Amino acid sequence: MLIHKSIATLRAARAQAGRVAFVPTMGNLHDGHLALMRAARKHPNINTVIASIFVNRLQFGQSEDFDKYPRTFEADREKLSAAGVHHLFIPPETEMYPQPQHYHVTPDPEFASILEGASRPGHFRGVATVVLKLFNIVQPNVALFGKKDYQQLIVLKNMVRELALPVEIVGQDIVRAADGLALSSRNGYLSASERAEAPRLYRQLTAVAEAVRHGERDFTRPCSAALAELERYGWKVDYLVVRRRDDLKAPRELGESLVVLAAARLGTARLIDNVEI
Ligand code: PAF
Repeated sequence: MLIHKSIATLRAARAQAGRVAFVPTMGNLHDGHLALMRAARKHPNINTVIASIFVNRLQFGQSEDFDKYPRTFEADREKLSAAGVHHLFIPPETEMYPQPQHYHVTPDPEFASILEGASRPGHFRGVATVVLKLFNIVQPNVALFGKKDYQQLIVLKNMVRELALPVEIVGQDIVRAADGLALSSRNGYLSASERAEAPRLYRQLTAVAEAVRHGERDFTRPCSAALAELERYGWKVDYLVVRRRDDLKAPRELGESLVVLAAARLGTARLIDNVEI
C-alpha cells in the first residue's frame, strides 16, 4: 500500500489507477470500515482501492470531540494494508485546508437541519464540503459509505445528484458486534458498564421495526415505548423516529420504504443507529 500525504502525489498515482473505488474515513478503523474496504475491492470493474484518513475539523461543532477524536495511524495503516487497499491518502490539515476554507457545500437546509442536523448544526455542511473536496482530489468512480450514518449517506447522494458528480455512491450495511451494537469509532468512549448497556439501543430499534412490520401504523406508539425504555436505563435520547428511507421525512402513505433512526447519549458517548424496516 502506498501512502500519500500530498494532493500532487495522490493525483499522480490516481492517473495510473484505472477505475477507482474510494472509501473516505476519519481513521480509528474498526471492522465496519474494513467491510467497506472489502466491498470496494469486490465492486465490479474496479482496478484500484483508495482510502483516506482525515479528521475533518469542519464537521465538528465547537463543543464536540475534534481534539480528542482518536488518531491511531499505525494500527490503521496495518489494517488497511491487510485489507488490500492500494493507496492511502492521509493529508495533513495544511494540505487540505491551506487557507481557511471559504467555499462550502451547503446541503438543503430543510434536510440538513433535521435529526442529526438539529443536534449538530453545520455538521453536514462540513461533511459535504470535505467529501466534495476529496472527490475532486481522488476522482473516484465509486465511493462507499456505511449506512450507520444514514443521513450522511443521503446528504452525499443528493449532493452527487444535484451537482452531477460522476461518481456512484454505494451504501453498505451496518456491521454489528455479536450483541448487536453498531460498530463505531465513538464506542471507545463507553466505560465497561456503558458498553454492556449499549446494545439496548439496537434492541429498541429492532422492536420498533418489528411492530411496524407487524402492521402498527401509529408509529409514535412503539417509538414512545422504546424511548421510555431507554430513558429508564439512563439514556438521554435526542430522537427516535420512523422516517421514509429516501428523504427522512415523516411517512405519508402505505407502502413507503421506512427506516427507524435514533441518536442517544449514554454517559459521554453519543451513539447513533438505525434499522431499515
Ligand atoms: O463518515 C465519516 O467518517 C466522515 O463523515 C467522512 C465521510 C469521512 C467525512 O469526513
